[in-house]
Amino acid sequence: MRAAATLILALALAGCDSAPKVVFADASLTLPDEPVELPEGPGRDAVLENCTACHSPSTMLQQPKVSKEKWESIVGKMKKLYKAPVDDAAAAQVVDYMMHVQSQPEASR
Ligand code: HEC
Repeated sequence: MRAAATLILALALAGCDSAPKVVFADASLTLPDEPVELPEGPGRDAVLENCTACHSPSTMLQQPKVSKEKWESIVGKMKKLYKAPVDDAAAAQVVDYMMHVQSQPEASR
């Protein structure tokens, strides 16, 4: 009975590959091995050390262009909600780096 239910579930999941929630790709768990994705800039090391353990650099790079305050709040959210161990000095560097990157023309990223 249990096996049959599992099979039905598996078939149901296999049948709807357009819904991202049920695709078991482990992309978000893969440790980034391509730090070169991050363009050069002041504070880049702080980002590599503090931000890329949990998600790839593209998570940051694909954000819409936002204000400094917004980046501060994003970093704050990473610390509070996800327990990212980012000290204040590193947080400031990360924010400056993101402002720098987002001020560059798209093509050079
Ligand atoms: C302890 C793990 C962890 C660390 C370290 C971490 N994050 Fe995140 N981050 C997450 C999780 C979990 C999410 C939400 C799920 C996702 O999008 O992957 C997220 C999402 C994001 C997003 C997507 C937008 C949003 O608000 O959800 C941005 C941007 C981001 N992180 C930036 C950063 C930056 C910048 C740093 C470094 C200061 C950082 N993260 C460090 C866990 C972390």
